[in-house]
Order: sequence, then structure tokens, then C-alpha cells
Amino acid sequence: MSVDILLGLQWGDEGKGKIVDYLANNYDIIARFQGGPNAGHTLVIDGVKTVLHTVPSGIMHEGLINVIGNGVVIDPVTLRKEIENLLSKGIEVNKRLFISKKAHLILPTHKILDAASEASKGVNKIGSTLRGISPTYMDKTGRNGFRVGDILDPNFKGIYEKIKEKHLKLVTIYDYQDFELPEIEKTWFEAIEFLRELNLIDSEYYLNNALSKGKKILAEGAQGTMLDIDFGTYPFVTSSNTITSGACNGLGIAPTKIKEVIGISKAYCTRVGTGPFPTELDNETGERIRKIGSEFGATTGRPRRTGWIDLPALKYAIMINGVTQIALTKADILNDFEVIEACTDYEVNGKRSQELPYDLCNTEITPVYHKLCGWKTDLRAFSAYEDLPETFLGYLNFLEEYLKTDITMISTGPEREKLLFKKALEVQSL
Ligand code: GDP
Ligand code: IMO
Ligand code: MG
Repeated sequence: MSVDILLGLQWGDEGKGKIVDYLANNYDIIARFQGGPNAGHTLVIDGVKTVLHTVPSGIMHEGLINVIGNGVVIDPVTLRKEIENLLSKGIEVNKRLFISKKAHLILPTHKILDAASEASKGVNKIGSTLRGISPTYMDKTGRNGFRVGDILDPNFKGIYEKIKEKHLKLVTIYDYQDFELPEIEKTWFEAIEFLRELNLIDSEYYLNNALSKGKKILAEGAQGTMLDIDFGTYPFVTSSNTITSGACNGLGIAPTKIKEVIGISKAYCTRVGTGPFPTELDNETGERIRKIGSEFGATTGRPRRTGWIDLPALKYAIMINGVTQIALTKADILNDFEVIEACTDYEVNGKRSQELPYDLCNTEITPVYHKLCGWKTDLRAFSAYEDLPETFLGYLNFLEEYLKTDITMISTGPEREKLLFKKALEVQSL
């Protein structure tokens, strides 16, 4: 029938996993369209926390199909660990998970190249998760990649060896020797045997056949718009298209099939790794947000940089993605704040603008803030949108007016059930 897309509007970690898990029951299929194990999507169900890296966030639901699309890059070792963890929790992964044969594989040497490249950049490093993402996508666009379907080729070891040899030559450019290949190679090949037993499919046919039978698909993005390879804060970005168009490329679905685009934003901003962050709070307030919000990476455990919500950047993300509705997460982290600020304009060379400059990295930006009264109420205690405090509704109204987009969902805690809908009929519009 149609495809809805759910993606991040900031620098990742907006709470995509939680919202996908909640909405999953409205769909037949949840399909991840890009990124790889650099992602960490957290679900908290009945007090149990699960962090997913490659597996789509609908996996906890019985009777739902989860597809890892062709746009995803897969580290078989991480995937195996993830699946084994799910199996240990009694999740019937084999019945629920399908993997595109066209997804590219992360080789051990991709990870080595990632580490070598980052080390060579010194202070200008991207702050990569070092999961091999960039070298794998480079090989994909360079037409040297190794795809999931290739492991079915009787000569797959030969294909592997050829790529590995090329990578080892490349590593010498970096003068990087900090690796033990035989050990990680062994684990990788064991994981390949594990992968071989999973449901490997032609996912573009699978998804389009499902659509023609009237099924509903939710496409799950990883990272966020400001980390998009084309429209993010380049070069401090990831290596895939994290935006709406990435769902078409990463799943093989046509733009005409897309209905809702659900953009996820925190009530403030975070970023892991280096790169521009105009509203960053490198002060006590930033530390307070990090502490209350437990802002530490779900994949690497690194402290996340924190700052006020950046409305020019959000407006940009809404434009690029064609966002039709917003889910606002982590507003509860600001429960005790007297004053909450929102950046409304960027001041560059004395001029104010709501547009992002071409080069965010080398442009001195002074954020202009609008101050709002804090709601000083525990949002977690509310179970209906209509009952939310006036001050908080005023804050939402201010954001909606600025962004010209409805905030239809308010997440008030990490737990699955902590989600309020603006319209009483919840997901009717989905
Ligand atoms: P994702 O990568 O976008 O899926 O987000 P992450 O899982 O990396 O990071 C979001 C973190 O915030 C996780 O620890 C979630 O459990 C948590 N979280 C999500 N929504 C909310 C919320 O509304 N309030 C609070 N307090 N935590 C939330
Ligand atoms: P989810 O899906 C937050 C960041 C890294 C680094 C940059 C490039 O959980 O929101 P890469 O490993 O892709 O070469 O790193 O992108 N990054 C993320 N930040 N959430 C993520 O995923 C991220 N995936 C990558 O920190 O700055
Ligand atoms: Mg995350």
C-alpha cells in the first residue's frame, strides 16, 4: 500500500529506535535503509533495555517482518552478536528477519582502514565510530564492494582475498600497523557461516510485492539529517544518505509510494564526534543536560556533546526530508529547567538568517536565542496530550509555528509506553 519513513532530524540519537518500536504494530514490515553498526537504537520494554545496531527496531514484535535493506552495510560479527542476544531473550529472529543480498559487507580490513584513516587525520578526525562504515561505502561506490549475496558464490573466499589484498596495500599509505588480522578474520568467517543460514533475499522484490499486496512498510533511518553525506555538516558526516531519498535508494522503493515522513528531534541537541555544532553548550548547562539526559553513545559509550535546540537546522532538515510530522523526544530531560532556550537565527558577520551557511565548518556563527519559560513539571506523569501543562503546550506551539510542521508525538521517557499523541486517534494518519 504505502511506505512511511521515520528518520532523525539532528545528529543522530534522537530516539528513533524507541518510536519505531512503538509504531511498529501499525505496519507489516519495518525496513532499515542505510547506515550500519555505527547506529545504536535503544528500546526499553518492560524495564529491559535492548540496543540494536543493524537489526530493525520492529524485531521485538511477533508476526512482524524486519528487513535489512540493500542500503545498509553489515558487519557479520556485530550482526551475529546482536542476533544471539535477541535469541537469548526468546525473540524468534529467524521468522522475523530478512536481509538484502545487495547489502554490502564490512570486511575486517574495512575496519582497519577506518582506524588508519582516522589516526592519520589527527585533530581533524571525524570522530568515526570506527565500525568500518566509510571504507565499506567507498568500496561500494568505487565498485569494489563485497555483497551479502556474494557469500553464496562457491568462490567467495577468492573474492574476499582479492579485496583484502587491495586493502592491505592501502593500509601501507597510512603507516598503520596496530592490528592482528588472523584473529579477527577467523571470527569474521565464522560469522559468515552464521549469516549464510539467515533469510537472504532480493529485498527490492520482496518489499514491492508486499506493497502490491496492500502491506504497510515503515522505513527506519539511522544517524540523522545533519550527518547526511550530501546535506550534513560535511566532511563531519557519515557516508550514506540518511534522508528521505536514502529510503528509496536503500530499499528500492519508488518516491511515489511514500506517504508520511516522520522526523524525530530531541527537545535539545546532541552530537557525538567532531564537527560543527552551533548551539553547543560547553558549560554547566550543557553538562546538566548530559547528566540528566544520560547523553552517552549507545554504540561507543562516548559522552555526547549537548546544546539547545537548533531551529534553523531543524527547518533545513524538515525541508530536505519533506517531513510531514514530528516526534519530539526527551522533553522530560528539561523538566526542572527554569528557562529553556531555542536558537531561532544564525548571526553571521552581523547579519541574521534562518538559513544554514554553505560552510558550517569554517563560518563563525553566533546563535540567536529565544528564551521560554520552563514547565517545571514532571512530564513523565502525564498519560494524555490534552492534560499536558499550559507552559509546555506553549513551548510546543512555539516550535510548531516556527517549523510550520505538526508535532504529533511527544516522548516523555525511554520506556515504550511513554509516548503521547497530539490527536486522540493516535496513528490514524499513519
Ligand atoms: P536512536 O539512535 O535515535 O535510536 O537513539 P539512541 O537509542 O541512540 O539514544 C536515545 C536515548 O534516549 C536512549 O537511551 C533512549 O532509551 C532514550 N530515550 C528515547 N526517548 C526518550 C525520552 O523521551 N525521554 C528520555 N528520558 N529518554 C529517551
Ligand atoms: P544512530 O542511528 C550519532 C557519527 C559519529 C561520527 C560520524 C561518522 O544511533 O543515530 P561513522 O562511524 O559513520 O564513520 O561516523 O557520525 N555517527 C553517529 N552519531 N548516532 C549515530 O547513529 C551515529 N552514527 C554515526 O559519531 O561523528
Ligand atoms: Mg543511537
